[in-house]
Amino acid sequence: MPPASPVLAAEITEIAAGLGAAPATISPKYFYDAAGSVLFERITRLPEYYLTRTERAIMQAHGEEIGRQVGRGATVIELGAGNCEKARRLCALIEPGCFVAVDISADFLHQAVDGLRAAFPALDVRAVVTDLLGELALPDDIPADRRLVFYPGSSIGNFDPPAALALLRRMRALLGEDGALLIGVDLVKDAAVLEAAYDDAAGVTAAFNLNVLTHLNRLLGADFDLAQWRHRALFNRERSRIEMHLEAYADTLVTWPGGSRHFRRGERIHTENSYKYPIADFAGLLERAGFASRSCWTDSGHAFAVLLARP
Ligand code: AVI
Repeated sequence: MPPASPVLAAEITEIAAGLGAAPATISPKYFYDAAGSVLFERITRLPEYYLTRTERAIMQAHGEEIGRQVGRGATVIELGAGNCEKARRLCALIEPGCFVAVDISADFLHQAVDGLRAAFPALDVRAVVTDLLGELALPDDIPADRRLVFYPGSSIGNFDPPAALALLRRMRALLGEDGALLIGVDLVKDAAVLEAAYDDAAGVTAAFNLNVLTHLNRLLGADFDLAQWRHRALFNRERSRIEMHLEAYADTLVTWPGGSRHFRRGERIHTENSYKYPIADFAGLLERAGFASRSCWTDSGHAFAVLLARP
């Protein structure tokens, strides 16, 4: 086998350190291999997973007002653009002059951006491949004025509050005084509703969680046996977050080149946090990042919020 590239070698070191930690952890970024991305799209259409459709309904119901506040001809920068499905609806609402799709996955992004160009032939569409956890620098030729950073889907919830604050500050740094941030946030609610959203009856979220082990088997050369692990989704009210774990059904030994770990029956690997905010707490986070929350729209059940914030 040829030696791993420095990037891959660093990743392998990071994964092995997580598996060896107490409790063991796997970063949620490893959910999104090709199979995981397909499973995530299926999650967004599940009856229990209210987030995607509630955000869409809020954007539809208040689209005119959002369009009025943002104005035509802005430069939209969508972070984690994925398949650009949300971008299409937003572009129809606010008619931007330039659309910048930012994502970590190059292949997926270029394909999605081609689709967006076909749907909006007059729109200047750019693709930027970068990691949101990195510097978040954009190429110099992206228009600097009237930028709108778009971060939908409550993806901000997958960062713990200090990391979320740091990311919001990096978003703020992309904007001039005439810029704005349009962001979707999942709100704290009944534990039963939250746990069902992350442990659906059809088992799609369980498959999504377990798929991370298949991805690690490939990436690390590990020998996880998926039949030994079960999906768990628990609401931690104290920390206001849904936690996803993989729990060992029985004592099991996992090995990979250069390492191994014995897991006891019932021992868990922590794979994801998804923070759920009271609106006031999220507005406070925005303020600390240098934003004033100007408008906030929610659904009638206050399940989800879309906020438009300005520096
Ligand atoms: C991408 N992110 C906002 C999803 C969430 O709800 O935290 C990821 C997810 N994990 C399980 N279901 C969906």
